[in-house]
Amino acid sequence: MAAQIIDGRAVSKKVRQRVAQQAAQLAERGIVPGLAVVIVGEDPASLVYVRNKKRACAEVGFYSAEYALPQQTTQAELIELVRKLNRDERIHGILVQLPLPPHIDQKAVIAAIDPHKDVDAFHPVNVGRIMIGDYAFLPCTPAGVMELIASTGVEVAGKECVVIGRSNIVGKPMAMLLLHQNATVTICHSRTRELAQVVRRADIVISAVGRVGFVTADMVKPGAVVIDVGMNRDQNGKLCGDVDFAAVSQVASHITPVPGGVGPMTISMLLQNTLTAAGQAKD
Ligand code: GUN
Repeated sequence: MAAQIIDGRAVSKKVRQRVAQQAAQLAERGIVPGLAVVIVGEDPASLVYVRNKKRACAEVGFYSAEYALPQQTTQAELIELVRKLNRDERIHGILVQLPLPPHIDQKAVIAAIDPHKDVDAFHPVNVGRIMIGDYAFLPCTPAGVMELIASTGVEVAGKECVVIGRSNIVGKPMAMLLLHQNATVTICHSRTRELAQVVRRADIVISAVGRVGFVTADMVKPGAVVIDVGMNRDQNGKLCGDVDFAAVSQVASHITPVPGGVGPMTISMLLQNTLTAAGQAKD
């Protein structure tokens, strides 16, 4: 039987409706959530993300400010802007779009962001808080994945979850969120032996590898939930995930499409974090 398709656009819409309602309540107290998005250079994918973030802010009644800096911006100049935004009371969330040009040290820039405004949850303070399960900001993509899993009604506690990929942005925080919900979690990566065998144990598979067709039907246990975080282009330039969707959807119980799965959720969780930051800001 074919898997149920998890509709990321529909789940995302619900999250945004909730955020918009709560933003309206904050507005009654005179607080308008504000997000600053900083981009350095002209990376086409990043420009699309930034445009989408700006539009999403407007839709839920947030203030947003965009800072598009030239490719040759120095690290000192970028950090100076971050510090200015740290002090700006209209701004509750600061997002510096990654990747940054190679002459800028990403870690130094992230460390300069006030942890209370770090709506990406990339600052070491927030990463540490995620580790101990005491966090204000959810890492956006993993939090979006948790919402999608919740939308299936499948219980996470006690399940075997396999995360493929160990990045700081997705794989590692993803494993933590699953663990906080009492899953048994395995992280696979490029050095994992017998990867297919490990993935086949999973009740819930989350792939964040960045390779077209990486997860094949023989790697998936019948009835598993499959979440595809991959964002790749196939040989025809078409957007696709890591999972062989046509074949795996014949084996899985629930599966996310690409596009229309995890992608729309990430910005929704960013809005949620900006709202949280605004609600916690001092009057
Ligand atoms: N580049 C790709 N994804 C992200 C993200 O979630 N946050 C930031 N800041 N940059 C990104």
